[in-house]
Amino acid sequence: MPLPVRELHPGFAAEVLGLDLTQSFPDETVAELQDAMDRHGVLVFRGQHLDDHTQIAFARLFGPPERYVLSYRPGIKLRLALPEMVDVSNLDAATGAPQGRDARHRMVNLGNRLWHTDSSFKQVRGALSMLFAHAVPPEGGETEFGDARAGYDRLPVAVKSQIETLKAQHSLMHSRAILGFSDFSPEEHAALPPSVHPLVSVNPRTGRKSIYVASHASHVVDMPVPEGRLLIADLIEAATKPDLVYRHAWRVGDLVVWDNRCTLHRGLAFDESYPRDLRRVTTSDVT
Ligand code: OGA
Ligand code: MN
Repeated sequence: MPLPVRELHPGFAAEVLGLDLTQSFPDETVAELQDAMDRHGVLVFRGQHLDDHTQIAFARLFGPPERYVLSYRPGIKLRLALPEMVDVSNLDAATGAPQGRDARHRMVNLGNRLWHTDSSFKQVRGALSMLFAHAVPPEGGETEFGDARAGYDRLPVAVKSQIETLKAQHSLMHSRAILGFSDFSPEEHAALPPSVHPLVSVNPRTGRKSIYVASHASHVVDMPVPEGRLLIADLIEAATKPDLVYRHAWRVGDLVVWDNRCTLHRGLAFDESYPRDLRRVTTSDVT
């Protein structure tokens, strides 16, 4: 029996109703959730009561959680103890209060305001991201999602055939350099070397194709850098046309799950004097 879902945007993003994610599920329910992910690209679960452990346990039903990229910096003090937890908050690790304007953690997270796909810069790329809201500001700070499947479908035939076999190089350092941030140690560079992935991603279960390129992509392999960057910019635009975007307005207790292989996302600005405590787990695309 299919799960009860409510579509949030035509053909893209849906709310799953009536599930408590702290409960254990039969394999059949996990398979239905995977089907719903394949259909909608983004799933929203409201009114959840997750702690870091139960959030990670839920993610594990779909794949191995990856390690937080900022944990590779020697001597770094992180706010969240578990290595799988990505701290998407604006909170200081020492005080728990909103961080200062120049905080390094803030500088790195500002890169999330650019359209991106989580962990496309890893050799084994990110699959599903699961972001849970513990605290949200009174306004702003929404997250937008673009449907890169519909973006692909609408490309002119000539562009589809042009990109069919092309690959792009991705790096975390590139998306941060776009905003003028480059404070990464030799250890971080060594742990996070650039990756190369096809510009077109294919869902192995449905065969549906998507654009797979965003702000981590520095260039297209075997193409002059400026030409490749223009192509990347055009493809990002195609996947984020206003009518392809679902904007999620956060409430405490929301878990939003998206498939990084067929969506782009970005965070929107908010008054950073208010706490915004969002925590993410991302699974690796090992299948
Ligand atoms: C993320 C992300 C955007 C936001 O968690 O991967 O990009 O709105 N978040 O905080
Ligand atoms: Mn992200």
